[in-house]
Order: sequence, then structure tokens, then C-alpha cells
Amino acid sequence: MKRDIIAGNWKMNKTQAETKELIASLVPAVANANCEVVICVPFTNIEVARKAIRGTKIKLGAQNVHWAPKGAYTGEISADMLKELKVEYVIVGHSERRQYFGETDQSVNARAKAAILAGIKPIICVGETLSEREEGKTAAVVVRQTNEALEGLEKTDLKQVVIAYEPVWAIGTGKTATAQEANDTIAIIRKAVRRLYGKTVGNALRIQYGGSMNAKNAKELMSMPEIDGGLIGGASLKAEDFGAIVNYDK
Ligand code: PGA
Repeated sequence: MKRDIIAGNWKMNKTQAETKELIASLVPAVANANCEVVICVPFTNIEVARKAIRGTKIKLGAQNVHWAPKGAYTGEISADMLKELKVEYVIVGHSERRQYFGETDQSVNARAKAAILAGIKPIICVGETLSEREEGKTAAVVVRQTNEALEGLEKTDLKQVVIAYEPVWAIGTGKTATAQEANDTIAIIRKAVRRLYGKTVGNALRIQYGGSMNAKNAKELMSMPEIDGGLIGGASLKAEDFGAIVNYDK
């Protein structure tokens, strides 16, 4: 049985002191969740977060990883560095990285491969922009992003992979894809994965929805058959909201 996975993407928020505070209130809020619960914190908070979540059900994630094992890449962090800090998940190819930091399908693929090689599970983000949606290109875009991100990965690697479908126009905007729209696009992504790796692998792959998911709409989104979790930005910074989201089935 695959288990739903809900991950908080803290983005560039929280100092170390604030991290301790937020985790202290997150721990009881998520204690009864049936899904897997992950928080993806800024690099500088990983160590503090690791200590604060010890013995709880919260798992540790980062927000990016470089593809090279080491070297002259100023400002970057390698998969082994994250592994040493007991990071289990890493977001790869978030639309903000694609938009502001020149992330391409190729670099997303290279980062995902590096994570898997180090034993870290990549949460690979795909999603169309508003203009792509309006031009009717949603399916083509998410299929291309999925195919390219998975290029060269073996069937067994797919056990480590999570995909997050995040329509760019829904991120941080308060606009959510309807549960049906999200479900339909995730079905398209899953079909692409099935084409590459077969039915069993495609069906077992966990695909999250992300983009203005919150305490109010989580239940409906999570009730859709294709949606196996959520990647939560803004609402992951409030313990009460994140708690309500991970308890969507209560
Ligand atoms: P949001 O962000 O929930 O604030 O829309 C989601 C994300 O960017 O992962």
C-alpha cells in the first residue's frame, strides 16, 4: 500500500530560533497524522530541525541539492552534505527555482539523480504556467517535464521518487486548481510514468498536488484518487493549518 505524503516547503523563511518554535508547535499538531509528514527547511535550519524532530513522526527535507559530488560550485550544497545531516527528502525543480534561478529540465534531472545516488528521495516538481495553461499546453508541459526529470533513472530508482504537480499559477496566489483539475493533470503525469516504467511502477509512484493547498481545501484534494499527498508552502508555516492539512482524513 502506498502511503500519502504531505510535505511542508518552508521556502526562505524562519531563523533557527523560529524553527525551534515552529517545530515545537508542529509536533503535537501532526502527532496523529496517518500520512507521512515531511518538512523541507532552509539549509541553515537543517541541523536545528533534525534535533527538534527527533523521536517525532516528522521527517526532514531540504529544498535543493547540487548534482556534483563536490567542487567549485559556490553557494551550492551536495547530496552527501545533506545525507550527513540525515536529510531524507529534497525538493528538486521547484517552479521558483525554474523561474528565478535558471533551473532547467536537464538540471532538475541531474539534481534528482544526485539525490537518489546519495539515498535521498527527490520530490520532483512539475507544473504549467498560467500562459501555458491558457494556450492548452498543460498536458504537454507536465509530460515533458516528467520525462526529462526522470531521464536515465532505473525502475528501482522510482521507488525513491515523489512527484509534486504544482501549477505555477496556483503557487502562493490563493488560487487552487479544482480537485478535479488537479486529479486530471496528475493522471496525465502518472500515465507518462507508466509509459516509461510500466503499470506497477506508475501506479505505485506517489504524486502530490501543490499550490495554495490549505486547511480548507486539503480534504477535498486528498480525496481524489490520483492525489497521493501535498506540497504545502504558506500554510506549512502555521502549525494549526499544517496540522489540519495532515489530518485531512479525520
Ligand atoms: P503555496 O506553495 O502552498 O504557498 O502555494 C506551494 C509550493 O510552492 O510548494
